[in-house]
Amino acid sequence: MRPPTRLPPMSDASARARALGHDDPDLAESVFNEIEARRLKAHPGGQRAILNSKARFRTLAAGRRWGKTKVAAHEIVRRAMEPNQMIWWIANTYKNVSRGYREVVNQLPPSLLAKPAPAYTSTTKILQLKNGTMIEFYSGGSPDSLAGEGVDFVVVDEAALIPDNVWQQLIRPTLMDTGGEAFIISTPRGHNWFWQMWKLGQENKAGYESWRFPQTANPYIPQAETDAAEEELPTIIFKQEIMAEFLAAGASIFGLGLQRDGSVVDEIVEPLGNVFVGIDLAKKQDFTVITADREIDGMPCYFERFQDLDWPTQQRRIGYAIEELENTPGVESVTALVDSTGLGDVVYDNLIAAGVDVTPIQFTNQSKEQMARLLAADMEHGRARILSDMQEEFESYEFKLTPGGRYQFEAASGHDDMVAAKMLSHWGRVHEGGASINIVSIERDDPHAEAALRDGILVPVPTPEPDPLLEIMNRPGAWDGSADGFASRGGRGFFGG
Ligand SMILES: Nc1ncnc2c1ncn2[C@@H]1O[C@H](COP(=O)(O)OP(=O)(O)OP(=O)(O)O)[C@@H](O)[C@H]1O
Ligand SMILES: [Mg+2]
Repeated sequence: MRPPTRLPPMSDASARARALGHDDPDLAESVFNEIEARRLKAHPGGQRAILNSKARFRTLAAGRRWGKTKVAAHEIVRRAMEPNQMIWWIANTYKNVSRGYREVVNQLPPSLLAKPAPAYTSTTKILQLKNGTMIEFYSGGSPDSLAGEGVDFVVVDEAALIPDNVWQQLIRPTLMDTGGEAFIISTPRGHNWFWQMWKLGQENKAGYESWRFPQTANPYIPQAETDAAEEELPTIIFKQEIMAEFLAAGASIFGLGLQRDGSVVDEIVEPLGNVFVGIDLAKKQDFTVITADREIDGMPCYFERFQDLDWPTQQRRIGYAIEELENTPGVESVTALVDSTGLGDVVYDNLIAAGVDVTPIQFTNQSKEQMARLLAADMEHGRARILSDMQEEFESYEFKLTPGGRYQFEAASGHDDMVAAKMLSHWGRVHEGGASINIVSIERDDPHAEAALRDGILVPVPTPEPDPLLEIMNRPGAWDGSADGFASRGGRGFFGG
């Protein structure tokens, strides 16, 4: 029996269930209610346009917290209504995979599941539906686990943080036999494959559609939160992460900070109150730099740069500098942070042995990123100042992006020892000499979890058992014309049709 061409809306489950003419309208009604209660109601900041698109490759660039993961989970659930689909959710890290999994499980009516959903903490996240559809969750950080074929629909979350070979060689080919569709979502990170996919959509290439929305489009995010991000982030990073602009690498992270009135001063001032010292030790050809800032106003109050001295002499000079600061009338405390990377460890140990109070900081890509972001944002907002002698080095301190979308900071030419020392003194000043750098924004995969994910890939698809709910789902047109994007995208109809 064909259903009426226009069913009552999904929100009126009772009328809809009866209009379908099912033998057990109460059961049908309860299923519709379950779906209605769980499905995402698109927000007016652009989500609707995405749900209405019929493009095979959809690329969404949006700022942090815009609702990318939520809208992608909606699309997963919608697609899962079709029988015998192989659906993948890929994200850059195990943690982000788990977030996506949680969102899909929240939106998916449990009565559609053939088996209970694995726990959020489970390493093998595979959902098996009564209609034979499988939803599998993988991390793109472990590309080996992604050997598969015949995928009908894939979501790639945080795509700009997934190297392009993972897309080209592992994900894209799985869509070939099936003519599978992809929904690719991310906050922008430079000009990588995600940007290229987005551009194809902008150029209206057949089968491609793309969108770009800033965080501020999401009506659920209070303006105060965006304002706080603007206050805390260097403009380059705010533009990319919050406003979703695709910025090419190569600029100096400090560029805008240097332009701010008062951020570059010509002379050092008298040390006073609490003083924070940053020391970058010479390695091979470069200089040892000692800088210091006053806590009260961030004004530079010490600067020294020397080269080609043996280690004992370097240590003595560092000791003298700290002693000089400590002995200045009006100085209450001196806290020193020293780059302890590589050779620095030895010098650090010796400084401690000589009675100098220093905190060691390891320079890694991540700690440099944290320190550079802090200093750049604070220079832009008048909370940090540098000496004009340092300006040139700051101007050439460029950011690059790794294939996995990580920021990488280094001097485009020449030295970066003044930048390094200043980043240390400023970090110490802001974090009260904080001994360690908490790398809050960097997510790392758990290698054990990754290995388990790999092992769990080939779980056989069970033959669906007869189920009265499935019968309702399979009724032709059961899902057509429903509100908020639950209409069929490709005319296949949900659960058959
Ligand atoms: N349609 C919606 N209805 C209700 N809340 C929404 C909707 N869309 C987004 N939100 C809210 O916006 C916030 C961000 O959602 P989500 O995690 O999907 O965003 P995201 O863009 O993936 O964020 P991130 O950049 O952190 O990955 C959540 O707190 C969510 O509650
Ligand atoms: Mg997300």
